[in-house]
Amino acid sequence: MSEIKALGYLGFFVSDVDAWCKYAQDILGVSVLKDENSNNLLLRFDAYAWRIKLIESDHDDLAFVGWEVSDEEELDQLKQRLSDQGIEYQEGSKELVEQRQVCELITFKDPDGTVCEAFYGALQVTNKPFVSPRGYKFVTGEQGLGHVVLLSRDHEKQQHFYKNVLGFKVSDYINTEVVPGKPLSICFMRCNARHHSLALAPVKIPAKVAHIMLQVDSIDDVGRAMTAAEKEGVHFSFTLGRHSNDEMLSFYTMTPSGFDVEFGWGGLEVDDDTWHVKVHHVNSSWGHKFQRPPRPSK
Ligand code: FE2
Repeated sequence: MSEIKALGYLGFFVSDVDAWCKYAQDILGVSVLKDENSNNLLLRFDAYAWRIKLIESDHDDLAFVGWEVSDEEELDQLKQRLSDQGIEYQEGSKELVEQRQVCELITFKDPDGTVCEAFYGALQVTNKPFVSPRGYKFVTGEQGLGHVVLLSRDHEKQQHFYKNVLGFKVSDYINTEVVPGKPLSICFMRCNARHHSLALAPVKIPAKVAHIMLQVDSIDDVGRAMTAAEKEGVHFSFTLGRHSNDEMLSFYTMTPSGFDVEFGWGGLEVDDDTWHVKVHHVNSSWGHKFQRPPRPSK
């Protein structure tokens, strides 16, 4: 089984920090910390010092994906496996370790060039409890931050890397047209009880991320978040619906960076002893109607 225990954190380059600050607080209901020495933002969801880092930039892109392992021994095992498979990794510098607020980390790239980090010992800030500006409680803990859907260029190599090198388990596949007229097979992978912490979708566009998912512990909070998003005029990329595979009841809004955040409740927890790989031909049992994004006004 994988040394990787959870999706720990994510980093994004963002071109509009102010829009993100508003979106994070008013739509996602997470708390926002401003970096003392830059215009970067740290988003908090729980006891972790941060879960998402937004780095001010002239463009919008995924910066890094942080995978959490248990301890030093597990990180050593992962290093060994990467070496055995001929995959280069770098030890995180003292400066990077301080920035990430962890005990130790390594960095490496997946076959598509996504910057991955593996770490242990994330700082917990229990003396300043996380308080959602909208009163939400996020489902994190052993299930990690949520999930991330990467758009894979080399789909076969990506699946092999995450399955055979990093040790993720395949939960299922959805073979469907998420966007009308564009059939594809999405591979859903897990590293803990969350049905998937990672999904790989073979879509060759410049963006690296389709969406990330944040889960709250109350169905009413999904409704409240939806009402807030409607009031703020945020673009809904997919309307409210229930996914066929992880049974998440969710809706999707577009972030100021162009990728989506799925905001959901009720995601399936998988028991490794009884789960078997499945295939679905629909993305959702109901709802999740795709809405084309508005053309940017110039
Ligand atoms: Fe999702």
